[in-house]
Amino acid sequence: MTLATKPLLRVLRGESLKPPPVWLMRQAGRYLPEYRALREKLGGFLDLCYAPDSAAAATLQPVERFGFDAAILFSDILLVPQALGQKLWFAPGEGPRLAPIRSANEAAALRLEGLTKHLEPVYRAAALVAKALGPETALIGFAGAPWTLATYMVEGGPSQDFARVKAWAAEDAAGFDLLIDRLVEAVSLHLAAQTEAGAEAVQIFDTWAGIVPVAQFERLVLQPTRRIVERLRDTHPHLPVIGFPRGIGPLARRYFAETGVTALSIDASITVDFAAEHLQPLGPVQGNLDPRLLLAGGEALEHAVAAILAALGKGPLIFNLGHGVLPETPPAHVEHLVALIRHA
Ligand code: CP3
Repeated sequence: MTLATKPLLRVLRGESLKPPPVWLMRQAGRYLPEYRALREKLGGFLDLCYAPDSAAAATLQPVERFGFDAAILFSDILLVPQALGQKLWFAPGEGPRLAPIRSANEAAALRLEGLTKHLEPVYRAAALVAKALGPETALIGFAGAPWTLATYMVEGGPSQDFARVKAWAAEDAAGFDLLIDRLVEAVSLHLAAQTEAGAEAVQIFDTWAGIVPVAQFERLVLQPTRRIVERLRDTHPHLPVIGFPRGIGPLARRYFAETGVTALSIDASITVDFAAEHLQPLGPVQGNLDPRLLLAGGEALEHAVAAILAALGKGPLIFNLGHGVLPETPPAHVEHLVALIRHA
């Protein structure tokens, strides 16, 4: 079977399929007992990310269990800052920590040389997954968008108010742009290398796009994304790129029209009617079930699935969540979700 017959790739080329292909952001992870067992064996989360066999196994777990139409490479967006030379660690139960970067000099010290060598285990994992997948299942590579990476790099981890990164971006535009420029290069290299290893589509996670002040949206979200897409198309002209600018509301239309992404992944704050009227005419839409409804299950889940399929199912749609699977989600709800979509 050739690449063009994989349902996910067909939709990314603009076809409308019934049922639509389905995969979930964070489909690998702690809600799966087999993931928790693998994690326990390997020790830390980062150890798992850098062990190609285990990262490949974690990638395949949800595909084997649920029969998703895509595998997303098991890795993390913060491996890129680490590969650029920033110190990264995961404190047990606390999430990621980074030694923060707060000046243009520190941004200038980030090293692109050696980036793909540092991330070689990720590409080895991608190659293992590509070889193991069935003929109907596509492999998705990914990276964080420059703005979202910058929030973690400058704040030193997750943040409540994003005070430092916002202040730097506003007060020292030239210095902050140096950081963004370096991240545009790094993300482009990383996505190209995943593609060369076997990824058939890539997703750019801009998880914190929604907190960018509107006046800086062009400079911090649209431009960097457009530059990454252009750079990828220079070397991989047919590579489908999915953009996930979380929380930007109606600006999603500009993002889709102006960045050049192939498909737009929408969060649960965008109504399916808005998406059908304003977004799907521009290309394939991915989304947008609220992860809390997947956690809850039952009738609310069933109604929301039916509403997404009714509004967006006639056009090019990739069924997904509006954000990642929550760790408390019962795997049985995921199984039910896939059955609902396939038998609608
Ligand atoms: O299944 C998949 O989607 C592929 C793997 C994947 C992970 N992280 C694994 C992971 C992907 C695509 C990501 C992306 C990612 N990582 C994002 C963007 C998407 C989003 O969720 O908004 C961000 C912001 C990160 C940074 C990050 N990594 C945080 C904030 C955390 C801690 C919070 C959490 O959910 O635990 C991580 C850790 C992380 N990344 C885990 C996994 C499976 C949990 C690690 C563990 O304890 O086993």
